Amino acid sequence: MKRFAFFLVALLLLQVFTEALQPAGDHNSSEMDDLDIEASLLKEHYMHKKINCSYACARRCIKSSRKNVCHRACKTCCARCHCVPPGTYGNKSVCPCYAKLKTHHHQPKCP
Ligand SMILES: *[C@@H]1O[C@H](CO)[C@@H](O)[C@H](O)[C@H]1NC(C)=O
Ligand SMILES: *[C@@H]1O[C@H](CO)[C@@H](O)[C@H](O)[C@H]1NC(C)=O
Ligand SMILES: *[C@@H]1O[C@H](CO)[C@@H](O)[C@H](O)[C@H]1NC(C)=O
Repeated sequence: MKRFAFFLVALLLLQVFTEALQPAGDHNSSEMDDLDIEASLLKEHYMHKKINCSYACARRCIKSSRKNVCHRACKTCCARCHCVPPGTYGNKSVCPCYAKLKTHHHQPKCP
């Protein structure tokens, strides 16, 4: 996992450098396109893996009066959205997906 992250960072840095060296508009290399696609896929993968839902939800629910309920809902939301808003309540605009999830009763699902 660590090695993978290192590889990813190296790849992204490489991409930034090669892009910086290219004159503007000179993006006519299929090799470059492949790298772009691969980097964005890896980046997405990495970003999604990065969040530790147990940790993020423990933090989110620390002040909740119903910790187990809060934690369970939060984990579901986190697993689905890969995001938990900062703080113990509110701040949901940081995670639009998290903010949008509803229960079957059309209540906001995520704590
Ligand atoms: C890209 O390169 C190919 C061959 O090298 C050329 O035929 C094509 O016109 C180029 N496309 C652009 C947008 O410069
Ligand atoms: C998530 O965080 C908790 C608490 O810090 C830690 O014990 C656990 O190993 C972490 N899990 C992952 C997958 O990093
Ligand atoms: C919202 O997030 C900020 C940090 O981004 C934090 O300082 C603040 O306490 C949070 N709000 C609540 C209600 O937890």
